[in-house]
Amino acid sequence: MSEQMRATGLAAELGAQTPIIAAPMAGGPTTPELVVSTWSAGGIGFLAGGYVSAAKLAEQIDQVRAAAPLFGVNLFVPNPVLVDPSEYLRYRLRLETWARHYRVELPENPQEDDDAWQEKLQLLIQQPVPVVSMTFGLPESHAITSLQRVGSRVLQTVTSSTEAALAQEAGVDGLIVQSNQAGGHSGTWSPHQPLGKTTTPQLVRRIRAESTLPIWAAGGIATPAAAQDAIAAGAEAVLVGTVLLRSPESGAITAHKSALADADHSGTVLTRAFSGRPARALRNEFTEEFTASAPSGFPAVHYLTHPLRKAAAAQEDSRAVNLWAGTGFAEASTDPAADIIRRIAGH
Ligand SMILES: Cc1cc2nc3c(=O)[nH]c(=O)nc-3n(C[C@H](O)[C@H](O)[C@H](O)COP(=O)(O)O)c2cc1C
Repeated sequence: MSEQMRATGLAAELGAQTPIIAAPMAGGPTTPELVVSTWSAGGIGFLAGGYVSAAKLAEQIDQVRAAAPLFGVNLFVPNPVLVDPSEYLRYRLRLETWARHYRVELPENPQEDDDAWQEKLQLLIQQPVPVVSMTFGLPESHAITSLQRVGSRVLQTVTSSTEAALAQEAGVDGLIVQSNQAGGHSGTWSPHQPLGKTTTPQLVRRIRAESTLPIWAAGGIATPAAAQDAIAAGAEAVLVGTVLLRSPESGAITAHKSALADADHSGTVLTRAFSGRPARALRNEFTEEFTASAPSGFPAVHYLTHPLRKAAAAQEDSRAVNLWAGTGFAEASTDPAADIIRRIAGH
């Protein structure tokens, strides 16, 4: 039996019993139920603020707040990766065969937005939550201090020593150290650059040696042993994402849940093919065909492939769906989220 893990440091101060955090997963997988279930197991759940409107996020916050006093909210920080217009057209052309197959129209011109950053920030300032985490970039320091002034702890997702140092300088309360083992989008601030091969414990150890901030580790953690490794490397807590995707509380679409349990999807790949930003997904026909040639460009490439992904998902056809998954995907089970959290904590 592995030893039972207890929350320490910032997580304990916030009121968590266990150092296991449900990672924010935008695009549907995170639900208020998943966040509440995590809290019921003694951990901290994060709502995913990305892609939803500020009004929808407010609704989800109210729903969680009614049941759980401790939770976090994650936001995408505007850090536009502008797509080269000719590369956009070239990619759009290559996607045409798939568009014809699924009978969808692809947007002709790149569509950019900032994920309603100001509105969501204002919402969190007016209706404060215990923890706010940021990904994709570092917000301006007034955003960090405004959130801290209303009582929130601000955590910054970092993927390198350089990002960790800049985040500490900007005054955040803690770091989410995410390695490239993580499922879904990398939080990297410079998505044009390759992500490197550092494992989660290696990255935690490196940043622990340089930073005095609390570290919560993310990437490929799906077993008690992996959680213990990250904690032994210097993390106070760990975030788990993929391992929760098949739980009944997860809002992941059927094609995604089934693919995670399907031996045909035998591995994961880092790819820009779906969104123009590096993300780890199960290999499927789409990643095989487009990973090598897809351009950088977020959110323009996300919007470009959206009609394909939506049509494929509606048919429960996993070939063109972004099957986000971290390296520990084989451990994802259909158990209730609270049981998964307790299992990883060694309870
Ligand atoms: C389906 C999915 C969606 C994700 N969406 C977000 C997100 O909205 N914001 C964010 O900061 N991280 C997001 N991530 C990354 C997770 O927060 C976390 O870093 C990752 O799940 C940890 O690795 P693991 O999946 O191997 O456990 C997502 C991950 C997945 C699998």
